[in-house]
Amino acid sequence: MTGRITVVAPGRVNLIGEHTDTTDGLVMPMAIDLATTITGTAGGPVVHLTSADEDEPAVVALDVDDPTAASPGWARYVAGVVAELRPTQGFTGHVTTTLPVGAGLSSSAALEVAVAMSLGFDGRAHDLARLAQRAEQRASGVPCGVMDQLASASGVAGHALLIDTHTLSVTPIRLPTGAEIRVIHSGQSRELAGSAYGDRRREVEAAQAVLGPLRSITDTEVVDRLDDPVLRRRARHVITENARVRSFAAALERGDLAAAGADMVASHASLRDDFEVSTDVLDALVDRLIVTPGVHGARLTGAGFGGCVVALTDPGALDEGWLVHAADGPGRTVA
Ligand code: GLA
Repeated sequence: MTGRITVVAPGRVNLIGEHTDTTDGLVMPMAIDLATTITGTAGGPVVHLTSADEDEPAVVALDVDDPTAASPGWARYVAGVVAELRPTQGFTGHVTTTLPVGAGLSSSAALEVAVAMSLGFDGRAHDLARLAQRAEQRASGVPCGVMDQLASASGVAGHALLIDTHTLSVTPIRLPTGAEIRVIHSGQSRELAGSAYGDRRREVEAAQAVLGPLRSITDTEVVDRLDDPVLRRRARHVITENARVRSFAAALERGDLAAAGADMVASHASLRDDFEVSTDVLDALVDRLIVTPGVHGARLTGAGFGGCVVALTDPGALDEGWLVHAADGPGRTVA
């Protein structure tokens, strides 16, 4: 590519289906109209990016082999993408974003997707998502699933995305007119999210070693075959959450916001009681929102342990946080 390249990649909010992608389950995020933009030109021996929000640039050699050694911190994500994509030429550019960083709206996935597209990635959305997922895992050390990167890579304006993370099939589900999606920050940063995420992943894998793939189980009584009460709770969350994703998608398709909202509230309770990734601050925020007139449902969104709550509301019911709209996936223009 020659000329000035501009890439825009969206963040995402997950409407329902939390902590199910680590066991190949169902998720239902949407790409949002908060996004990361990179402008620059291809060429040279390194990837050199400056950022409007960071003092230090990310400067990454094309043969980088340990993204965790990159500095400053945000350069790790750039290095992760370079290490996975192995571009044959460098890039010099500038990064801006309208996403809040580290809030649970996948600012890192948006950055990874934007960097990959800037460096010339040309292929299918799910290959882009897998590449960016591996970059995230290498950069952060967190064994994340594919949801965030696939939501960013395959967004469809006006639609939530029903994703089967086993097959990576993406089914856009039109959001009913008159439904608003609000994202409200709890004020709590997600410090524990990384280490606890790995713990939860090991727990669901231990449950699967006994029960088989959780995505294939619909009967919650099956969890009684697990001796450990913690593993029983973790497995029950995943099994019931997969069912809630189906129920939520069906409710949206028939425009039943009350039923969709009830699924979100049940999802939050399961994340709080069975998966144990909520906090008192998130619980209090959800409790306050769901008794507000015009709010159909609310739940923590993302990994948990702080970060954001997502709410499904009637128009204008809330005026806090971000009003987000379902957006298209990434775009690249060359001028
Ligand atoms: C993080 C991970 C995703 C997913 C969510 C929880 O956002 O990156 O893969 O597991 O947590 O649903």
